[in-house]
Amino acid sequence: MKYFYKITLLSLFMLTLLSACGGVPEEKSTASHSEKAFSVEEVLEMVAKENDVTRTLYTKAIVGKGKAQGMKFDEDWRKDDVEAGPLPALFLRGVASSIRKSPVPLGLYLGSDFPVNAANKFVGKQAELFKKIKMNQKPQFFYDSDQKLHTAMFADVAGAGACVSCHNDHPQTTKTDWKLGDVMGATTWQYPKDSLSYKETIALLGSYAQGTVDIYKEYLAEIEEFKKSDKPEIGSKWPAEGNYLPTAEVFLDSVKKLSSYETMKHLVAKK
Ligand code: HEC
Repeated sequence: MKYFYKITLLSLFMLTLLSACGGVPEEKSTASHSEKAFSVEEVLEMVAKENDVTRTLYTKAIVGKGKAQGMKFDEDWRKDDVEAGPLPALFLRGVASSIRKSPVPLGLYLGSDFPVNAANKFVGKQAELFKKIKMNQKPQFFYDSDQKLHTAMFADVAGAGACVSCHNDHPQTTKTDWKLGDVMGATTWQYPKDSLSYKETIALLGSYAQGTVDIYKEYLAEIEEFKKSDKPEIGSKWPAEGNYLPTAEVFLDSVKKLSSYETMKHLVAKK
């Protein structure tokens, strides 16, 4: 049974890779696809891991290194007179709103007990569970009976110097002594069903990946409108190498490589 379970996880992993390389193969039998293959907890854990990788990559390799090249990142990045890219939290919100427009009923939200933006403050059950997360960094799962949604919360850790310095120095901050490694908040994920078929799982992971591509492309489109003469060159290079930004494809490719590694570690650890 355990063996079978590992195989199913592995084949899902391969399907994810396949979909990253241009599409899931046509379904042959609908029977196997309609089976419930994963619990909602497992799937939300997978997508949360993808999100960790994406978020850290964006924060470190784009925002952190980009700032060193003179690139700007701002809350008002969408305004015409602001020549800047999205902050990490707004990148995540962009992903969330793209998922909301997709047919996948997945909710994503980033909150905290000491937020920069008061609208991001946890309340009720989520505030209660966040206290536990702060203590042991373990994910928390519960069924939100008011909203009728299975809910999972994962620690959002200050994994880059940029997280700490920007929050501590922000004019609206409610806390000025964040340190590297602190649990600064949590991502909350919600889904209406308690289990997912392969097809639903692939669709969910695909919708997340598409969300990152959508918001990243919006950022690149903003750059096109910049008036300044030293716009970053968009191609295969990263800000670590100079005034460059990767294309959406290059960015997603790196996410896929990094998260495949993470997924592998997860699989090996699972036994
Ligand atoms: C350059 C500034 C900047 C950087 C870098 C940054 N943040 Fe934020 N962060 C913000 C701002 C501003 C908000 C509020 C955005 C909003 O919702 O309007 C925010 C929102 C958040 C929230 C939601 C609660 C709140 O404070 O409103 C969390 C949690 C969070 N950030 C954690 C992080 C982590 C972890 C990192 C690094 C991976 C990070 N931030 C990097 C500026 C930054």
